[in-house]
Amino acid sequence: MKRDGNAPRHQTIGLEDKVYIAGHRGLVGSALTRRLTREGFKNLILRTRQELDLADQRAVDAFFRKERPDYVFLAAARVGGILANHTRPAEFIMENLAIAVNVIGAAHRSEVKKLLFLGSSCIYPRHCPQPIKEDYLLTGSLEPTNEPYAVAKIAGIHLCQAYNRQYGTRYICAMPANLYGPGDNFDLETSHVLPALIRRFHEAKTAGAAAVTVWGTGTPRREFLHVDDLADACLFLMREYDDPAIINVGVGEDLSIRELAELVAEVVGYQGRLVFDPSKPDGTPRKLLDVSRLSRLGWRASIPLREGIEQTYRWYLANFAGHAPHSAGSREDTVKG
Ligand SMILES: NC(=O)c1ccc[n+]([C@@H]2O[C@H](COP(=O)([O-])OP(=O)(O)OC[C@H]3O[C@@H](n4cnc5c(N)ncnc54)[C@H](OP(=O)(O)O)[C@@H]3O)[C@@H](O)[C@H]2O)c1
Repeated sequence: MKRDGNAPRHQTIGLEDKVYIAGHRGLVGSALTRRLTREGFKNLILRTRQELDLADQRAVDAFFRKERPDYVFLAAARVGGILANHTRPAEFIMENLAIAVNVIGAAHRSEVKKLLFLGSSCIYPRHCPQPIKEDYLLTGSLEPTNEPYAVAKIAGIHLCQAYNRQYGTRYICAMPANLYGPGDNFDLETSHVLPALIRRFHEAKTAGAAAVTVWGTGTPRREFLHVDDLADACLFLMREYDDPAIINVGVGEDLSIRELAELVAEVVGYQGRLVFDPSKPDGTPRKLLDVSRLSRLGWRASIPLREGIEQTYRWYLANFAGHAPHSAGSREDTVKG
């Protein structure tokens, strides 16, 4: 059934198709580029932010008119940890709204066959039953520390669903758990908790620091998905999933920030003391995704957390440690949750 110039539902992505990966230099975008290249995709379309600012609607329209991609992985976004979201809310909502509006609108105008939009588990209410089912979306108030970002992601979801309903487009929405892996952001002001822990413990080890202080109480529980697993799931969904309903992508298990800190310290080889600073924000108490919808389709994560952290630490040592300004001067170091 062909509707409105969009690909019939049974048509699936092929190695000859033109595939645009928005945000290809980011954590997710670089993993998608690795995965699709390994799979043998021949026509990947990649643009740096300097080449194409996705917040610039004219530039985005001109790009889509010229390149006419068949498939789009929308992995570009303004992303950051608690501190960055807390101090720059306007930038987080504006940039993410602009990227979603510009790319989804242009994709429709240039009749892209299928698009995958990436949201995040922060779209779900702060206090919802665990594990979190996709149906819990908009059933309660959001976590205040990253609400502007979450609202922009929810708007992106509704944009996709509204286009699907009005124009018969095939825009799907994946909601990943917290991600980590090679290519992560290790900047201590803007990074997420896991890369921040790797860097802090490594620097504390090399400086011989007696203790490392971790933001918060250590009790919040989090789920971590290796970014290569996510890239694999995104390709699987682009091939197999055509439902407008959002779909969670995770491992289906979580651990406390204290357990995570202890695991990262072990992998890095840091033997000093861990101190938790309860005066700093914890964020949402628990955020475990229900991944039964995706596992019913036959997909499961395959990279265990310890193995993934070991691999990420090796990447950090090879690509970051020694290049970054050394900050571990004092005897006590602090990690922002
Ligand atoms: N990281 C996580 O834990 C996590 C968890 C769940 C969902 N997600 C979702 O996954 C997606 C990708 O996140 P990520 O972790 O890969 O983020 P990231 O590492 O910060 O990568 C984002 C990419 O988007 C590009 N970008 C941002 N604004 C742009 C603009 N105006 N024009 C062109 N390019 C722009 C960035 O370009 P530059 O390289 O030039 O900065 C970067 O390459 C996001 O939608 C995010 O919500 C992430």
